[in-house]
Parts: sequence; C-alpha cells; structure tokens
Amino acid sequence: MRRSQLYVPGNNEKMIRKSTELDADSIVIDLEDSVPMDQKDKGREIVKRMVKELDWGKRELALRINSIHTAEGLKDLSILKDLDKVKLLVIPKAEEDMSFIYNALGIATEPIIETARGLLRIEEIATSKGVEAITWGPADMALSVGGNANAYKDNQFIRTTVVITAKAYGLDPIDAVYFDLNDLKGFEEDCNKAKALGFVGKQLIHPSQIKIANDIFSPSIDEIEKAKKIVQAYEEAQKAGRGAIRFEGQLVDYVHYATAKRLLQQIGEKP
Ligand code: COA
Ligand code: MG
Repeated sequence: MRRSQLYVPGNNEKMIRKSTELDADSIVIDLEDSVPMDQKDKGREIVKRMVKELDWGKRELALRINSIHTAEGLKDLSILKDLDKVKLLVIPKAEEDMSFIYNALGIATEPIIETARGLLRIEEIATSKGVEAITWGPADMALSVGGNANAYKDNQFIRTTVVITAKAYGLDPIDAVYFDLNDLKGFEEDCNKAKALGFVGKQLIHPSQIKIANDIFSPSIDEIEKAKKIVQAYEEAQKAGRGAIRFEGQLVDYVHYATAKRLLQQIGEKP
C-alpha cells in the first residue's frame, strides 16, 4: 500500500532518523528541491550512510533524485548500486520513457508529472519498464507554463488524467503534496477529493499529515460492510439470471460488483 508517501529532506539527518519512527507507508528521502545546490554532495553522503545504518521496518524506502537531465541527477543514480534498501525512485520532471533506469538498476520508479511536456507524454512515461506508481506536482507544473501554483493545486484535468493513465496500466496513482501545513482540515478535504477520483494515496511533507492520509486511503468499516453486501446480493442475483439489481435504492450492475470485490481483495478479505 502507498497511502502515505512522506518526503524527508536528504540533507537533514535528524528528520531522516525521525522518519523511521513514523507510520508513513513510504518514506521518500529527497535529494531534489528540499536540498540546496551547495549541499547536494553532502546530501548524497548522508543518504548513503543513513539508508544503510537505519532499520526501515515495513516502510517502503524511496529516493527522489534530481532530474535525470542534470549532472546532479546522474550523480544521484550513481550512489544506488550498493543501496539495496531503496525500493523505489521518484523521478521529478519526467518527460519521456524512463525504462533505462529500471534496466540499469532494477529499481522501480514513480515519475512525477509536473511539466507541460510530461503531461503530453504521460502515456509514454507510464508504460516505461519498471514504473509502479505515478504522481504529479502543481507548483512545478505552474512554473512550467508560467501560471500560478494556486490555480494548479487542485486542477481536476491533471488529476483525472493522472488517475486514468495509472489505472489503464495497473499503476498506483498518488496525489500531489498539500503545501499548507497549518490547514489539516483542508488537507483532509483534499485527500477525500483525491480518493473520490481514484487516487490510492498522497504525497506528504509533514508527520501531522500521515494519520489523516492513512485513514482516508484505507477503506472504512462502512465501505467494507457495504462491499460485502453488494457482493452477496449480486452473486445471488446472478444465480437467478440477473445482471442488474436494485441495492439500497441504487442500481448495482457488474462494475459495482467488480469494484466491491476488488476492495475486499485489497484488504485480504475473501469476497
Ligand atoms: N520528515 C520527518 N520528520 C519531520 C518532517 C519530515 N518531512 N517534518 C517535520 N519533521 C519532524 C521535525 O524534525 C520535528 O521533530 P521533533 O519533534 O522530534 O523535533 C517534528 O517533526 C515537528 O516538526 P515541525 O517543527 O512542525 O517542522 P518544521 O516547522 O521544522 O518544518 C518543514 C516544516 C515543511 C520545513 C518540514 O516539515 C519539511 O522539511 N518537510 C519536508 C519538505 C520536503 O521534503 N519537500 C520536498 C517535497 S515537496
Ligand atoms: Mg517538483
């Protein structure tokens, strides 16, 4: 599960250490925008040491590298050969097929769609070898088109495009970071909107966001109960030769049945 992906600045030993006590599903150590240019080498040294030293438990350990079109990005890739605890590479400003990363390193990738060209080529990016998840970035997208980050932060066109592309190719769609650290209510609403569109998780920047994301992107008891009832009612109807039924005043046909079954499978319940 990737309900919560917490970014941690790669040059901050204290926060990296702290992240191993937090309940995020994925920890994304960042070597890109949270690390100043003159600290990139230091960041790589810290990452090399701490990835090895710390116990990451069940958390998925991920690394966000610099753009693969920069010298820093290539240096980031070079430290990975003996960091086998890193299971996922988050690739910023993805704009083309990135199979070469998986071919060279055997590590899964999660591209960030955050430029105009990246959005136009999202399908080519999503179908690269090794891609497991896909996310997007409103602030860089706004920068790339000369727009305003506020206008892009809940852009429904980009969000829907990311979800639909991910689902078409069996990837995890992860929603973008929510920047207002003081507005947990707004963060919660943003998670709910993302979940309703089909996102399976959210990128995070602060520990206070973890529990909210984990709760929202886990199915609720009500959702599980309803799914069980739908599966049961639909299977009985099927035996009676019907493919569409009235369930609690709503139409239920095959797609609703399949959705309910998938939810039960995800949580390990036998439908
Ligand atoms: N990962 C791990 N620990 C974190 C953390 C993070 N992303 N953000 C905060 N913490 C820790 C702090 O170290 C502090 O720990 P302590 O109580 O043991 O001292 C605690 O959580 C509370 O932190 P707080 O004082 O509220 O944070 P701050 O105001 O110092 O920092 C940010 C705020 C935004 C600078 C910080 O959360 C951060 O750097 N986030 C990640 C940014 C990032 O990676 N951006 C790139 C992707 S967009
Ligand atoms: Mg970005």
